[in-house]
Amino acid sequence: MKSVRTVQGLRAVLGGARRDDRAIGLVATMGALHEGHLSLIRHARRQCDVVVVSLFVNPAQFNERADLERYPRDELRDSELAEDAGADVLFAPSVAEVYPAGFATTVEVLGLSERLEGAARGAEHFRGVATIVTKLLCMALPDVAYFGQKDAQQVLLIRRLTTDLNLPVRIETRPTVREPDGLAMSSRNALLGAAERERALALPRALQAACELADSGERSTAALLAAARAEMERLSVSAEYLALVDPETLEPLERLDGEALLAVAARVGEVRLIDNTILTPDVGSAPDPQNQGKVLSTCSV
Ligand code: PAJ
Repeated sequence: MKSVRTVQGLRAVLGGARRDDRAIGLVATMGALHEGHLSLIRHARRQCDVVVVSLFVNPAQFNERADLERYPRDELRDSELAEDAGADVLFAPSVAEVYPAGFATTVEVLGLSERLEGAARGAEHFRGVATIVTKLLCMALPDVAYFGQKDAQQVLLIRRLTTDLNLPVRIETRPTVREPDGLAMSSRNALLGAAERERALALPRALQAACELADSGERSTAALLAAARAEMERLSVSAEYLALVDPETLEPLERLDGEALLAVAARVGEVRLIDNTILTPDVGSAPDPQNQGKVLSTCSV
């Protein structure tokens, strides 16, 4: 694996692949790599000739200084993990390389970025995400870029901006990777103390509770959200937001009449966590012949 720190260096290592029309895949990360990231890298390895992993803790997307300061960083470990998972190139630029003096351009995705995470964290967060992802796509010019469903709103925004800006890249979304007890993997999980780690299960359990209720035929959003909230209260965690929304537009839904995104954010101690699942009631309400007539779960948490 080659490590490069400059855009010029990145272009130089990718030049040959581009001239030979070999497929380039990009996995953008902020480091502190875990199985969620590694699953994206392994998938890119299976699909592409050259796999680029970017590692950049993007200050522009942190709306809280403390969150940026305590974000876990270990480049040596990350570079070993990325290489083992199949990366060919690690692109780890400095802040000055990405945002040189005089930098003045931002990318903003209207509408989508104002909901859920945008409403909770402010416009700055997704402006920062949209700008860095656009820049990374322009720097690496990949054929395919891989993102996790864990950050459902982020990937919607990225799809929107690549379409709107005619960026010649295919965006692929990959499923959320979870710990054995259901907690979605996140770089921030490392910051949880033992008791907080236990309470963090409030998020997947809330999603699971709503899923189970949907499985039993409940279609009212208010009832589904109440079940989810009750589960969180059992662990004394209160949601920053908990919402059932259209999975494309993120508009709130009053009833579960088709595919829906159930998204949650909560603070556990100092650590802010997010999670989501897609509810598919059409599948859920139909008995599954391959499963001895048992009703299929509407979601996988
Ligand atoms: P980061 O949080 O490091 O995540 C990098 C990529 O890994 C994102 O696409 C994210 O959705 C995915 N990911 C994180 N946890 C996952 C999990 N448990 N299962 C599957 N995929 C998971 O997201 C960012 O960084 C940044 O916003 C970035 C896109 C790099 C721009 O700075």
